[in-house]
Amino acid sequence: MAQGIPEEIIDEIRQRTDLVTLVGEYIKLECRGKNMVGLCPFHSEKTPSFTVSPDKQLYHCFGCGASGNVFSLIMQMEKMTFPEAARFLARRAGVRIPEPEKRTSGEENYKEKIYRLNLMAASFYAYCLTKSNTGKKALDYLQKRGINGSTIETFMLGYAPADWTGFFNFARKKGFAPEMMVKAGLVSPGKEKGYYDRFRDRLIFPIANISGKIAGFGGRTLSEGDKSGPKYLNSPETPVFEKGLMLYGLNLAKEEIRRLKSAVVMEGYTDMITAYQAGIKNVVASLGTALTAEQGRLLRHQAETVITAYDSDAAGEAATWRGLAILQRTGCLVRVAEMPAGSDPDSYIRGKGADSFKTLLDRAKPLMEYRLAVLKERYDLISEKGRIDYTEELMAFLNAAVNQVEQDHYLKKAAEVLNVEEEALRQELKRRRRTGTRRREQPEGGIKTFPDRDKIVRAEKILLSLMLQSKEIAERGRNLLEPEYIKDERIREIVEAIWHYSAGEVTCSAEKLLNRFSDPQTTKLITEAATDPSMQDLSSRTAKRMAEDCFWELKQSWENKKRTELVNKLKELEASGTEEEITEFLRKNRNILQCQDSGSYRNGKGGDFND
Ligand code: CTP
Ligand code: MN
Repeated sequence: MAQGIPEEIIDEIRQRTDLVTLVGEYIKLECRGKNMVGLCPFHSEKTPSFTVSPDKQLYHCFGCGASGNVFSLIMQMEKMTFPEAARFLARRAGVRIPEPEKRTSGEENYKEKIYRLNLMAASFYAYCLTKSNTGKKALDYLQKRGINGSTIETFMLGYAPADWTGFFNFARKKGFAPEMMVKAGLVSPGKEKGYYDRFRDRLIFPIANISGKIAGFGGRTLSEGDKSGPKYLNSPETPVFEKGLMLYGLNLAKEEIRRLKSAVVMEGYTDMITAYQAGIKNVVASLGTALTAEQGRLLRHQAETVITAYDSDAAGEAATWRGLAILQRTGCLVRVAEMPAGSDPDSYIRGKGADSFKTLLDRAKPLMEYRLAVLKERYDLISEKGRIDYTEELMAFLNAAVNQVEQDHYLKKAAEVLNVEEEALRQELKRRRRTGTRRREQPEGGIKTFPDRDKIVRAEKILLSLMLQSKEIAERGRNLLEPEYIKDERIREIVEAIWHYSAGEVTCSAEKLLNRFSDPQTTKLITEAATDPSMQDLSSRTAKRMAEDCFWELKQSWENKKRTELVNKLKELEASGTEEEITEFLRKNRNILQCQDSGSYRNGKGGDFND
């Protein structure tokens, strides 16, 4: 029994929940043979390694190792405990969980309670807007802005009445504890006594997460004067609401985004709503802040291309640039739609129509190109100073290029703009690299020198399994491999520990290793390696064969990677180095540069197994 939920209920929830459908609510899945694959929701990646087996109702990510069933998916995605996840799924599947004798502690389905309270609040506000007299002026306001009745319903728009306790009293009658309302950010404790509503006399925009649960609210003032506080008041951060993790409208837009493989990001609630109503349904709003990596990932899971349609004044701001660079780094193709000065998507669509707006979207420029254009506008390229400043910024910008090809491309363009030799700019870029202005971080989307990482990590896992079974194999690995041949950091650490322990007499046991590591991902790797069903009861001969194959694969992939690096280096030397330097370089690296024959290590260090 999981904290008050009977075993048979857990089973029923499991039976009634289809993992493929559930995963499909978060990411886009495609068929691959018997399985479905998609971009892993738990780590950044550009090629899908998140695999769902419809038969087994299990998922596994070959990239980050996340794995599990419907319950663990919800636990991980919604950051819930097991009982919370079970209740979440029970509600979804229409399974009733009998209340235990003693009410279970508030803690366990706490987030669920906040979601429930939020939903109740949304319907209260919606009622006030559409069915009560107090909401009349808000309704008029929406009508004036061209938002129609069905849109109001779709977005569950509402109105928070002006009196200070309207919501509080209502929720109280429904049985919600004041503390819970405070936690949800809907009311605040008064200075002297009692509680008062956070949202008063505001238009209410419920903000749902990707699965449609209401996580928080935005409230827009109805009086244009400045006396009524900020134009928009949002929910504070709560256990279920973190601004940087949300994209307004994603729950509604995700289907269209997947269909078109592209998403349009806007700034405001009203921008998103107006576009959606006008039939442009692949839209989300970033809620006024610069984009975060989490939001980028959220988008990347649904779309390949992301078009931003920000107000023209916001588009030039540093924070916006940073946000777009972050988006690009998550692997999205970022394009920028240019809004005419003074208009935002909402006003533009209402003024010029959806088709005209679609044309703007079609003409959106790739981020780098757009940036180059903005840079050019900003500096006076006739003056010496202007050119120097321009070059300065240009270098930073080129360094941020996703890969070499892109960098070259923009370097050419910049050379044209400045009317200088391309080579001069290239040298400048190189000089800066050398003098320490190195890239701070490798963009995630660098050129892939290594397309078969999955395969290698699989080989590493098999080896791990084998080394835990046989001291002899562990020993052989130590003689044959260098730690750096192992790509996966965690596996590398584990293998080094095995080598450390198996120096003595006995085979290093998984149990012993487990005491050494506390990182849950690492311990999971160890447990998996030790229990992997396909690795049990191997004959010693088979085990050695398998190990040999894996050693070979790791070694070869390391050499390939090294060789690519060296070849690139050589090209650089050929362009700028002396003859002497080149000869020396070739001599020093002859071994690796020449060893196309990948079997060569067998004659290298360490002897062969003698069986
Ligand atoms: N925003 C916010 N808090 C503010 C101002 C803005 O959270 N004090 C966010 C809101 O999500 C808002 C977005 O930033 O939708 C864009 O702000 P703005 O352009 O000022 O609002 P619009 O969406 O254009 O609102 P409206 O059209 O109703 O004036
Ligand atoms: Mn606006």
